[in-house]
Amino acid sequence: MGKVLIKNIGCLQTPVGSYSHKGSKQGANEKYINAAIAVEDGIITEILSGGRIPAGTYDEEIDAEGKLVTPGLVDGHTHLVFGGYRQHEIAMKLAGAGYLDILRAGGGILDTVGKTRQASKEELYDKTAGFLDEMMSMGVTSCEAKSGYGLDKETEIKMLEVIKELGEKHPMDVVPTFLGPHAIPPEYEGRGDEYIEMTCKEILPEIRKRNLADYCDVFCEDSVFNAEQSRTYLKCARDMGFGLKIHADEIEAIGGTELAGELGAASAEHLIAITESGMDAMAEGGVTAMCLPATSFYLDKTYAPAKTMIEKGIPVAMASDFNPGSCPSLNLQFVINLGCLKYKLTPEEVLTAVTINPACAIGLGEKVGTLEPGKQADLVIWNAPDFEMVCYRFGSNMTDRVIKKGTLVK
Ligand code: NIG
Ligand code: FE
Repeated sequence: MGKVLIKNIGCLQTPVGSYSHKGSKQGANEKYINAAIAVEDGIITEILSGGRIPAGTYDEEIDAEGKLVTPGLVDGHTHLVFGGYRQHEIAMKLAGAGYLDILRAGGGILDTVGKTRQASKEELYDKTAGFLDEMMSMGVTSCEAKSGYGLDKETEIKMLEVIKELGEKHPMDVVPTFLGPHAIPPEYEGRGDEYIEMTCKEILPEIRKRNLADYCDVFCEDSVFNAEQSRTYLKCARDMGFGLKIHADEIEAIGGTELAGELGAASAEHLIAITESGMDAMAEGGVTAMCLPATSFYLDKTYAPAKTMIEKGIPVAMASDFNPGSCPSLNLQFVINLGCLKYKLTPEEVLTAVTINPACAIGLGEKVGTLEPGKQADLVIWNAPDFEMVCYRFGSNMTDRVIKKGTLVK
């Protein structure tokens, strides 16, 4: 890899530090004008501004041509591995069916479960690798990926193996999350408690033993898993040393965010229907809000109160939620647009929400999420003079080049 110089950066905009940014810190970005970044073996060694260039000789020089540079984007919530697609749900939606109506009728997540159980590991690997390539070309250099379309030991493990292998072979840093309790599988219909028990006794120990996941997640929702079932599962996961995540308050507020606060989860995700008490519990428990505005857009729902959460001192992150049902888009740039237009966050708050805050919520805050010496040289050169332009233009891919650990990947 050697030494790389990235020079002629018109504006370098980045949050600073390896911690979650909350309250007024959410919008604290550094802006370096006429900057240059020196990189050695994939790690940033020096950043200078005002036209100064770090001394030394370089194996490669990358000319940013006066453009904007930011940290590589971090997508902290995805369901990247799945069999098939669900385009037929468009007709059901047009006929008036809601997201949970489709799931209750045996479709939705359960439809994808059938297709994922049938898919071979190789098929899933190739399809997911394609998604990772597309995400990188759009500026994402690290992401989280959940299982959750197997709902049985064999298929959940198959998904996590795909995620782990891609994390090793693909340039993207990929953090695996086990989402076994994503829906009640047909074999356990009406027996959610037993499914949770089986998950804790039979699947989690195997995942722990083989180190196949860093986090455990559960869909805490009306007609899916209630707060008590979610508590049982998350406590069991916590006792085994996993970090905790929870799909909470997506459609109904049934206690998921309060539980996240109680257990000190790394993040609670969705939060469209969050209440005051949920927000207070999250602030108290230091839980990051993983907001998913493209899902609100696609489900035609309201938007999580991200601005209020910042005011309450909750670190706000934003992610794609890419999945075949509620958000069939992996475009984190659209999420950036929605962060400004729907959440009413400033461009600086938005940049923090797609870099350091999700990085911390998936355990990568020491390595990525900001541009400063000691961190990985994961960055985007944008076809834009400033980040406002990226927030403003929508529907186009605004990346010019993408650099992962000092190497051009687009
Ligand atoms: O985060 N809400 C639960 N899980 C996913 C959707 C999964 C699906 O519909 O396939 C989500 O939106
Ligand atoms: Fe999700």
